[in-house]
Parts: sequence; C-alpha cells; structure tokens
Amino acid sequence: MRAAIEAARAGLNVALVTKIYPVRSHSVAAQGGINAAIKETDDWENHAFDTIKGSDYLGDQVAIETMCREAPEDIHELERMGAIFSRDSDGNIAQRPFGGAGYPRTCYLADRTGHTLVHLLYEQTIKHGIVIYDEWHVVSLVNKEGSARGVIALELKTGKLHRLHSKATIVATGGYGRVFSSTTNALSSTGDGMGLALEAGVELMDMEFVQFHPTTLKRTGILMTEGCRGEGGYLVNSEGERFMKKYAPNAMELASRDVVSRAEQTEINEGRGVDGCVFLDITHLGKERIKERLSQIRDLSIQFAGVDPFDKPIPIRPGAHYSMGGIMTDPSGVTSMTGLFAAGEAACVSVHGANRLGGNSLLEAIVFGRRTGAEVARFCVDRDFSEFPKEALRDAGHMVGVLINRTEGENPQTIREEMGETMVECCGIFREKGLLEKGITKLEELRERFASIALTDRSDYYNTELLAVLELGNMLDISTSILTGALAREESRGAHTRLEFPKRDDEKWMKHTLITKTGKDFKIGHKEVSFTKYEPTERKY
Ligand code: FUM
Repeated sequence: MRAAIEAARAGLNVALVTKIYPVRSHSVAAQGGINAAIKETDDWENHAFDTIKGSDYLGDQVAIETMCREAPEDIHELERMGAIFSRDSDGNIAQRPFGGAGYPRTCYLADRTGHTLVHLLYEQTIKHGIVIYDEWHVVSLVNKEGSARGVIALELKTGKLHRLHSKATIVATGGYGRVFSSTTNALSSTGDGMGLALEAGVELMDMEFVQFHPTTLKRTGILMTEGCRGEGGYLVNSEGERFMKKYAPNAMELASRDVVSRAEQTEINEGRGVDGCVFLDITHLGKERIKERLSQIRDLSIQFAGVDPFDKPIPIRPGAHYSMGGIMTDPSGVTSMTGLFAAGEAACVSVHGANRLGGNSLLEAIVFGRRTGAEVARFCVDRDFSEFPKEALRDAGHMVGVLINRTEGENPQTIREEMGETMVECCGIFREKGLLEKGITKLEELRERFASIALTDRSDYYNTELLAVLELGNMLDISTSILTGALAREESRGAHTRLEFPKRDDEKWMKHTLITKTGKDFKIGHKEVSFTKYEPTERKY
C-alpha cells in the first residue's frame, strides 16, 4: 500500500490486487513497533550498525544505510498521515528497547503497531483514489521478451480470470510462514509473489534464512511481541532460571532473535522446558503497565493458552516468523525483470541479511515501499504499454480448467500437511545435511503428487479449495528453495545453524545465495555482499 500511494502521488493510475481485504494483510500482526533513530541522543548510523551486526554481516550495507538514514522522516510522515504513536511523559513519540539494538529505538502504538499502520495506509489508498481489486488472487506474472506486462488474476467471487495490463508491476505479497506447520503467520502468508516470480524466471535471494521468533504462544504459535521483553519481561526455563545469562550475558533477553531462539531451543532440547516450551514472565511489570502497553498480549494469552500474564508466566517457544530472503531487488525495488518490482517481505533488498532485527520489518515495508513506488513512477513516465501476450489468459484458463475438471486424484490438503511437517522436521532452528536431504527428497515427491491432485469443490463462486491449491503450488516451490539454499550453505550464520558447520565462514560464505527455477530444476548461484565501512567481526551480545 505504501508503494501504491507513492506511485499515485506521482500521478500514476494505480490498481492494488489482493487476495484478501487490505486490512487483513499480515502486517497487522507486527505488534511491537517500527525502528528509527528519531532522538537527538541516537543516530541513524548506530541503527545501521545494529542492523548490520544483527544481519551477521550478510546484509547489504548500502541498502541498510539507506533504510536507517531515511527512517526518521518516514516515521514523521506516518505521524502526519495520522498514526497516533504511544507517547513518553514529555509528549514525544515513545520508544522501547528491542533485541539487538544498542538504543531504545522502536516506536510503537501499544502492542498494535502494525494493525494501526495497515489501517492508516488503507485510508490513504482510498484518499488517493487507488482502485482495489480485493479477493482477486494473482495466478501468473505475465511477461514477454524479459519484460513484465501485468498479471492474470482470479476473481474469487465469480471464478472469472481477468487480465490486468500494466506498465509496471510491484510484488508486495509478504512472506511464506505457512510453509511451516507451526508459524506466527496468518493463513494468507503463503509466499505467492515469491513463487510467481520464481516461476517467471526471476531470482530469489537468501531463502535459507528463516527467522524463528523467540516468543510464540504454546500450541497455536501466536506471536507474543518482542515488546514484552522490551518492556522488561524475562525468559525462564523449567527451573525458574533466566537462562539467557548463559547465552548472551550482556543483552540477556534482548539479544538478537536468532540468538534467543537458539538458546530457547537448546534449553528445551536439553530437558529444561515444559511440554516443548519455556516461559515468558511479565508478571513483575505490574498490571497497569501490562494494561497500557501489552493489553492484546494479555488477551491472547488468556484466550489461547488459559494463562493470565498478570499472575503467571506465559508458555512460549520459537516459531517460524519471517523470511529474510525473497525476490532479489536493489534499494529501489528493481528486480532482474524489466518492469517488475518488489518491496516488503516478498523482496530481498537485502537489509536483513542472515537475521532481521525486530522492528525493522515494518520499517522496510514503509521505506522501500515508498522508494519502489517512486521508482515505478520514474519508470512509467513517457513509457507506452507493451503488448500483452494473448496466450497468457488462455494458458491460465487452461491451468485452472485442468484443476477444476480433474475428478480423481489426491487430496491437496494431505500434501499441504506433509509439506508443513517436513519443513518443521527438516529445516528448523538446527539443521543438518541428512535432514535437509530428506526434506528435499520429500518435497520432490510432494511436487510430483501435486501434479495429479483433484479438487472436491468444482464451483465457480468463492472456490477456496482452488485458492488453497494455487497457494500450495507456490509453497512447494518456496519450500524447495529454502531447503536447497540451506543444504548448500555450509556454515552457521544468523538464523541458519548447520550442526556440522557451527562457525561462520566469511572466506567461503560471505555471499548471497540466488535460486532460480527452470522447469523442475532449482539452480543455485551467488551474489557479492555490498560493504561500506562496517568490517565483519564476531557477533557477541
Ligand atoms: O515481536 C514483534 O512485535 C514483531 C515485530 C517484528 O517482527 O518486527
């Protein structure tokens, strides 16, 4: 939405195509906040350093500097649009500490930051007259002779396929958390844009880096914001010990997410958990502070775990949360296909490298959304529409027709469940060759079985089974990309921990992984990391 607003401001005729209603976008779940060095006692360069260190030095430093330098102005612009950030006692925007940051730099709106920003941007899209095709699912990125020409989208209400002819297309479809059976992500986070880009021949970058958020609720995996620890919450094991002192003696619970998640999983694996969980204790914050700053967390914990955080620690465990990888772009959202752009979690700029800092994802969406919208405006000036290939609609119709008409075959839901379980078992926090190979083989089998699935619902109207199948196709390709990248990368860096290669290996692996797909084959390539002035050193928290 931020990209659409910027392009509309520049005078373009913009349409937004979304398989759900915009205000149901998963960004609403980014509870804890958005980072920016807005205080005189802070500096964007400190923010850049924390982000680069957090990325385990794989983040592109030019892109990170751009994001951190431009962040304060974006926060003030959001405020001018109407975002009512929580305030400190002087009436200024309040900021809370977040993991891996050397300064309390996370601006927030209680524990509903993403929720508020999504609603705010939605209002702005209406104000700017942007046409919204909601509940339209994109089935293909149309391209010819190496340039993007628009999309084919399925209107869920009618089952009709539509061609949307554009001069430029921006993919801003978010992450793929749902490839794991347990995740903080909404049902809609199926990585469609990444899957479609891969299918169209565009490179995905650094797909092996999956963020496991340290605090997700027992059983459901619902996010318990990092803001809980930012406000002073503790992590304790079954013995009541604040175990982070063993893993990050200085930062403790506010080490970077990869470090905290690994620590929790180690405690659980070594028998100091309870029912596969450790505990997030915020009881000592007091009722008033919890009510003011973490009220949603309290509600969720009571409703979904039966635990009132006023009185008891919340049972939590690490869970798949965020994709550091995505469609390879530059800091203006430009991909390797002319006319195709990407922004937000669907893109890999790369500002997160091997591990993202909490509070940098809303920021990435805002800064690079704005930059990409502006770039698209430049791209479209004085440019005519290129021809829209006629066969695109016909091919999409054929593909959907085959799915709808096949009467015998496997249930797609079985494949989806097996994929989710495989990813949890084979590509979790701790990874090893044998399991990764097992995962790749299993995914090959699932992709083959997927080719002959059959739907039980053959109707045109709101065929959600058809939607689920289209999503599954994308998810299978994404799962294979993650596993392929993870098997290739023989080192441990950020969120990627290989048990046989426990150390970071800058000599061999200070490089990005690229994944392309030709036919059924996934190929690996590499790209250099961009540096400015930050020398890689060992990370300690
Ligand atoms: O913990 C959180 O509130 C999540 C924020 C984020 O992923 O940036």
